[in-house]
Amino acid sequence: MSDNKIQSLRGMKDIVDDDSVLYSYFIKHASRISSNYGFSYIQTPILEETSLFKRSVGNSSDIVNKEMYQFIDKGSNDVCLRPEGTAGVVRAFIQDKKDRAGKVCKWYYHGSMFRYERPQKGRLRQFHQFGAEVFGLSSVYEDANIIMMLKSIFDFFGIKYTLLLNSLGCSSCMPEYKINLKYHLKDFKDKLCEDCQIRSKTNLIRILDCKNDTCKSLLKDAPTITNNLCSSCDVDFKKLKEILDFNNISYKIDSNLVRGLDYYSKTTFEFISNEIGAQSAIAGGGRYDKLVEFLGGRQTPAIGFAIGIERLLELIKIKENKKDTIYMGVLDEIFLNTLVKIASKKRSNTKVVLEYIPRTHNKHFKLAQKANASIIALLGSNDLEKQTIYIKNLSNNEEKTINIEDF
Ligand code: HAM
Repeated sequence: MSDNKIQSLRGMKDIVDDDSVLYSYFIKHASRISSNYGFSYIQTPILEETSLFKRSVGNSSDIVNKEMYQFIDKGSNDVCLRPEGTAGVVRAFIQDKKDRAGKVCKWYYHGSMFRYERPQKGRLRQFHQFGAEVFGLSSVYEDANIIMMLKSIFDFFGIKYTLLLNSLGCSSCMPEYKINLKYHLKDFKDKLCEDCQIRSKTNLIRILDCKNDTCKSLLKDAPTITNNLCSSCDVDFKKLKEILDFNNISYKIDSNLVRGLDYYSKTTFEFISNEIGAQSAIAGGGRYDKLVEFLGGRQTPAIGFAIGIERLLELIKIKENKKDTIYMGVLDEIFLNTLVKIASKKRSNTKVVLEYIPRTHNKHFKLAQKANASIIALLGSNDLEKQTIYIKNLSNNEEKTINIEDF
């Protein structure tokens, strides 16, 4: 019989108990901080046309090439579960003609993403991201602002990280850099790993973040993009570093940080934690000034990031005082109707643990402690007549009987 039990799919997890508490806690505060930074919430469909990701994330990327949950639906449409959030948000931006309105647009989102990867600690096939995208701002101050917003989120949750920073240049300096890199690799081509042999033809710069030791050693003396930026990209990159320095945000320049998605230009960054094992990236992002136009919209500069929620939850400790809970109970069943009514009013702004079974004072106190409540409220004899309720503050042991109205 047990063989027939249906399990969740490999690399997919239920989020329950402590994890679900942490999950909502994270979404609540990350959303609050995002809205303080001027972002509003957007929700896009989980299922999109496959071509959206082929055109944005890139045909030669691992995400599109190897990891898509792709199928033909009943209407013969080629669709897939989103592997990331940016492409859908850009599609929505263009579809809603926001590119034509020419206004700055700032959105945050959260939800499931799907990548058919080899599952391991910190790497799932269905995982969750909290992301944000900004459209219409080309100023490098916005690059700094996005990094500061991530810092505000991580600082709130007390998360330690290392920020890796790079610039991938633009359509004027990147092609030239690729020629230099190709030249550097020309004598070692055969020594590159199998994947990099392919990358050298389809997406040369992805060789830079190959984890294979031989490839890494072949790249030791390779030219770096940060030393090959055109003057405009160079000025912006220097300015970004200056702003971060001014704000005491430390970073490490990693000129091999090319990221696994093809849409980036100029600033790219990753936040890394050394407390969660090999899958150490807790957030990543960068500028993608060409993507809106590439997907058929009007030329619009854009930048964004996404946080991997599962990886982050490993690092969060809840700061909120759990003890803002009220425990409510009755000494006799006849008070239950009134108690339920009061509790429902109270619940519009406070967490209430409601006990339906009539019990003695002592038993109620034990249950209130178990529920981690800070206040206990009991309805007992005489209360209905006088319209009062007994209250005790469990932190300082103050007790009183007050009017139900005042409660
Ligand atoms: P990404 O670096 O592919 O960027 O993903 C962002 C974060 O999602 C990663 O840093 C990691 O924490 C988490 N993540 C990725 N794959 C997995 C997985 N298989 N299991 C668990 N967590 C994972 C993007 O997705 C871009 N859309 C970010 C962006 C937004 N760039 C500009 N705007």
